[in-house]
Amino acid sequence: MQTREEIIDVDSFVRRHIGPNEEEVRAMLGEVGFENLDALIDAAVPKNIRLNRQLNLPEAKSETEALAELRAIANKNKIVRSFIGAGYHGCITPPVIQRNILENPGWYTAYTPYQAEIAQGRLEALLNFQQMIIDLTALDIANASLLDEATAAAEAMALCHAVVPNRKTFFVADNCHPQTIAVVQTRAEPLGIEIKIGEYSRFKFDDAVFGALVQYPATDGAIHDYVDFVRQAHDAGALVVVAADILALTLLKPPGEFGADVAVGNTQRFGVPLGFGGPHAAYFATRDQFKRHMPGRLVGVSHDAEGRPAYRLALQTREQHIRRDKATSNICTAQVLLAVIASMYAVYHGPKGLRAIAERVHRLTSRLVDGLHALGCTITHENFFDTVRVEVESSEVILEHAAKADCNLRALGPRAVGISFDETTTPRDIELLMSVFRGTTVRDFADDDLGEPPLRIPQFAIRTSDFLTHPIFNTHDTETEMLRYLKKLESRDLSLTTSMIPLGSCTMKLNATAEMFPISWPEISKVHPFAPTEQAAGYMEICRQLEDWLAEITGFAAVSLQPNAGSQGEFAGLLAIREYHASRGEADRNVCLIPTSAHGTNPASAVMAGFKVVSVACLKDGDIDLADLRAKADEHARDLAALMVTYPSTHGVFEPTIREICEIVHAHGGQVFMDGANMNAQCGLCRPGDYGADVCHLNLHKTFCIPHGGGGPGVGPIGVAKQLAPYLAREFILDPETGRILFGEGERGKDPPNGGDIFDYRHGGGKGGNVAAAPWGSASILTITWMYIRMMGAEGLKRASEVAILNANYMAKRLDPHFPVLFKGKHGLVAHECIIDLRQWKNAGVEVEDVAKRLMDYGFHAPTVSWPVAGTMMIEPTESEPKHELDRFCDAMISIHAEIEAIARGRQDRQNNLLKNAPHTARQIASDKWDHPYSREQAAFPAPWTREHKFWPAVARIDNVYGDRNLFCSCPPVEAFQG
Ligand SMILES: Cc1ncc(COP(=O)(O)O)c(C=O)c1O
Repeated sequence: MQTREEIIDVDSFVRRHIGPNEEEVRAMLGEVGFENLDALIDAAVPKNIRLNRQLNLPEAKSETEALAELRAIANKNKIVRSFIGAGYHGCITPPVIQRNILENPGWYTAYTPYQAEIAQGRLEALLNFQQMIIDLTALDIANASLLDEATAAAEAMALCHAVVPNRKTFFVADNCHPQTIAVVQTRAEPLGIEIKIGEYSRFKFDDAVFGALVQYPATDGAIHDYVDFVRQAHDAGALVVVAADILALTLLKPPGEFGADVAVGNTQRFGVPLGFGGPHAAYFATRDQFKRHMPGRLVGVSHDAEGRPAYRLALQTREQHIRRDKATSNICTAQVLLAVIASMYAVYHGPKGLRAIAERVHRLTSRLVDGLHALGCTITHENFFDTVRVEVESSEVILEHAAKADCNLRALGPRAVGISFDETTTPRDIELLMSVFRGTTVRDFADDDLGEPPLRIPQFAIRTSDFLTHPIFNTHDTETEMLRYLKKLESRDLSLTTSMIPLGSCTMKLNATAEMFPISWPEISKVHPFAPTEQAAGYMEICRQLEDWLAEITGFAAVSLQPNAGSQGEFAGLLAIREYHASRGEADRNVCLIPTSAHGTNPASAVMAGFKVVSVACLKDGDIDLADLRAKADEHARDLAALMVTYPSTHGVFEPTIREICEIVHAHGGQVFMDGANMNAQCGLCRPGDYGADVCHLNLHKTFCIPHGGGGPGVGPIGVAKQLAPYLAREFILDPETGRILFGEGERGKDPPNGGDIFDYRHGGGKGGNVAAAPWGSASILTITWMYIRMMGAEGLKRASEVAILNANYMAKRLDPHFPVLFKGKHGLVAHECIIDLRQWKNAGVEVEDVAKRLMDYGFHAPTVSWPVAGTMMIEPTESEPKHELDRFCDAMISIHAEIEAIARGRQDRQNNLLKNAPHTARQIASDKWDHPYSREQAAFPAPWTREHKFWPAVARIDNVYGDRNLFCSCPPVEAFQG
């Protein structure tokens, strides 16, 4: 037998990425009953969709080579001092946070904390985030992050509309960040919401207006007193959303204190790198009375089986995975990792530190203003925090001078420029800017030419209330304390650093370290999203290459990288379909067919895109019911817009009828949207664009190695067929002359939406509008996917999909005798995941949740529970897990099966048993009190490996019902943990 090294090149990344070696592959194939991988794939993947050639991708490179190549491209980005602002600011990531969170797989490889008992670390960090937002905004409740400030503003508009229904106008102040206005417009249009843009102080509310959005401080830096505006809105029965700068709120009166109903914003400047636009965590806070309309995840405090405080996700009944088309939002993956970083920045600096940072930024801005006054410049607004609007003869000339001095300012029209300061600004920057305004790059202004400048915050806006008074924000200001706190939380979470996380539909594969390196390179992390395009030449090259590679992998004509999560990709793809129909005079096509098995984001996105959802039934074997599909398509022949279909299906099989399904939809005038969450089963084997899909979204945080971050970031690009390409979400820039959003080439320029007087569309743009705040969405993490594809090459990607399918089938084969595999395709095979049925033990009182919790005692994270079928588990091993890890998991499940049998046969108590009491904590095991009819050893050390390495759940079983009935979503007092 050849050794692994003899078979495969030592330098090969593919070998490191794929778990099973040749020998293991052979052994598993033997179990599954196939001679070789080709035979297995031939049997599992329908012949009529197979790609019969190799993907046309550059040849695989080693880690070192790929890093060198990417570095050379990244070096084409130019890093200059940025004073652009517009919602994005330079900041300092405290090194202790950079190394121990951002660059730490213990944090970034975790999944969304649905299994709360083994996710207490990040749940605590997210609760800190919520507390931080509640305090800084002075509102009652905040969620655990949204995707970006612009989409958060759009979500706020949706909340206002839900609370004040039957009205159709939403006012947006022209002092908001341009990208926010543009995203709100994109979101409003399909819902029939009319957006009125104008000067807030002149706006007259009437009974058509359900809400209004203003920026605080305004995008040009002015601090306005919104008290009257809010009063007028409330008198007219409308709600007010305030988009507020998170750092400014340490000095400024918070929105909750002047009547705002919702506050949204970006927390990027709390330690998260610019990254050319993302990923960053947006925040969303509102009043208690609106909490059931909030989008996104919310962490709440409940208690565990021992009555101790424990954290969990609360009010999930609002969310798409439960309420589907009636959900408050389509948000699923959010920005957990970035929210954790921002919250830890606040923990590290504490209220005094944050205030000191804000004051310093403000005083430096004030000093610049004094200097500019001395030069005879006019500053438009007397009051500001960190951003000023300077009136100039020609912004073009000033921008040119600035460019020569290697700094970026923001044009605010032909005769004004904006300058924003941040935590990284130094007195040296003031010198630089003074010289720019003098028209010279020579130093001519000394630091001490001016005395201590006055605060320019007006009396009405001065913050007097305390914030971040909880001890958590006041005890970790040394690095030692901080490091230990981070490690304590990390140790409470089960991530991929402990064991496999076989979550179906989530593709928890290896996030290789080499893939992660580039996000920390300054050339990647320090670029402002609105930096002039020529400074982002490296990014452009990375994005173009990635678009080409993804188009080749999926078989589509064009790709947009802008959507910053799968949900946003769905929305963008459906918008493209909508615009396409409209362009053909078929705007009435508004029905979206969705199989009952679809992921909750599908119906929720369809509603956001203005479609009516019609369900299509599934057969007993899990396949789409073709007769029902035909009947529904016939019934809606005149108004059919789209079918949303997941492939391989959410039931874990390659349906042989997928081509036929697409043909039926096309024959009835509809377009096929493919949910590409399951792309990991297809790379190099088949391509959605070839077998009939018109648009497909990809989850780069699944198939393409971006880590889940404990619930985000994600990237959800879409690929589209030729006819939909003109309707992709378009690239845009901040116009260097006007400071407004300018779309790329396209048709929008001919027909600006909503009157368009605010925007200059002279270069045109995509009809889809922008779906994210930044032109390239979460650009910095695209490098992860770039690295993955570059290191895998065509052969490696294909091999990954093949082994993912083999691993799933091997597990299905091992588990089937104990837990029947619910759906199988031809030849009894599954795709890259399988659903096992646990409903037969319901009579014995054993629920699928009990098994999920018992797995924790064995050191495992449960597979996906009760989706898409209640009472089942969906297992997706991915290609990265070696055979012995698959076996370990199967052994755990088989051992749990014996424990269930003991209950079912009456050998164990129906209530007081190993499953119902799971998970067992160290505290319980060490307690003098033990009143269970099984041993401590059986409870906590049920398998040999737990003796060698035991992962202890931090809390016992959490009471979900109590948590929702007694909603508490901020940091509990320290005393709650005593005893
Ligand atoms: C099948 C499917 N579709 C869509 C999504 C939504 O993707 P995201 O969470 O990135 O919004 C998911 C994510 O879990 C999924 O599993």
